[in-house]
Amino acid sequence: MAQTEPVHIGEDRLVIHNLVKRDPSAGFAEDVRKGLSFEPKRLLPKYFYDELGSLLFDAICLLPEYYLKRAENEIIERYADEIVSSVDGHKTLLEMGSGSASKTKLIVEALLSMQDDLLFIPVDISASALESSSRILLQSFPRLRIEAYAADYFDSLSALSAKQRGRTLALFLGSNISNFGRDEAPAFLRALRRVLREGDALLLGADLKKDRSVLEPAYDDALGVTAAFNLNLLARVNRELDGDFNLPAFKHHAFYNEEIGRVEIYVESTRPQTVTIGKLGIEVHFSAGERIHTENSYKYDLTGIAQMATETGFSCTRTWLDSQERFSSNLLLAV
Ligand code: AVI
Repeated sequence: MAQTEPVHIGEDRLVIHNLVKRDPSAGFAEDVRKGLSFEPKRLLPKYFYDELGSLLFDAICLLPEYYLKRAENEIIERYADEIVSSVDGHKTLLEMGSGSASKTKLIVEALLSMQDDLLFIPVDISASALESSSRILLQSFPRLRIEAYAADYFDSLSALSAKQRGRTLALFLGSNISNFGRDEAPAFLRALRRVLREGDALLLGADLKKDRSVLEPAYDDALGVTAAFNLNLLARVNRELDGDFNLPAFKHHAFYNEEIGRVEIYVESTRPQTVTIGKLGIEVHFSAGERIHTENSYKYDLTGIAQMATETGFSCTRTWLDSQERFSSNLLLAV
């Protein structure tokens, strides 16, 4: 059940609507049961991000091999003014998924240098993350108001569709689009397009296809942080569902499937073994070398982005690249 009354905090410059279902652990249990019964086995990447997983992801973003966040930061630092002035009029800023506060801050700063005030609508699954990042922004920008939605993407979009907003600049950063499948990505863009009006825009961050010698270390770093991030999914099953995954008997595996254009991530059983998951009342058997598919990270090329934009009611009008041309920030105009 979702909380219907918005929470007003402080002097009413921050309102948080909490649309998150009250019992997320029920969804986790059901998805683990289903995923481990599939052939091949799979677990959903959205479950990476418990408290420990979110910290491990922050650590990934600091790794020398994981260039994505640094590359996007470089683009936004350099082109924030150009990006925001590519959209006409007095703007409202909408952000899907919590981007890093640093990137959002640069865009907010650029917008407030061009208009007197700004309404920012961040959407994130975590109400506490929204509250802390919102407070930091409000402290830095007295002319900013925030109306936040704690919700998953699709729930927030149905709530947003009912709202009247001014000209909107939406952000979907961090190449979060990478973790959608080839059908899910356009479905998400279409749903987002439905809450925008002609002339509104979306800044879409997308990691680019490149040589496996760059991609594979980005998802299998020397320090083993990505391995820990991946194996934390099994540790989470142990913690929350009374599982007995023996972590040293599983290993992280990542490789670039060039034909499909995605990095595929798995945990692999190093020997035949049986795992018991107490709260689900199940035993799961693994053969040596058997894998659980935990994530895909799709890589794009500029033609593919432009084509997906056209198919979903947008037109890709500008693209900015980092100095090493690894990452793209694309302005998709709603047409
Ligand atoms: C959040 N997402 C864009 C990351 C990616 O690059 O696909 C998740 C990630 N998985 C392993 N490393 C990073």
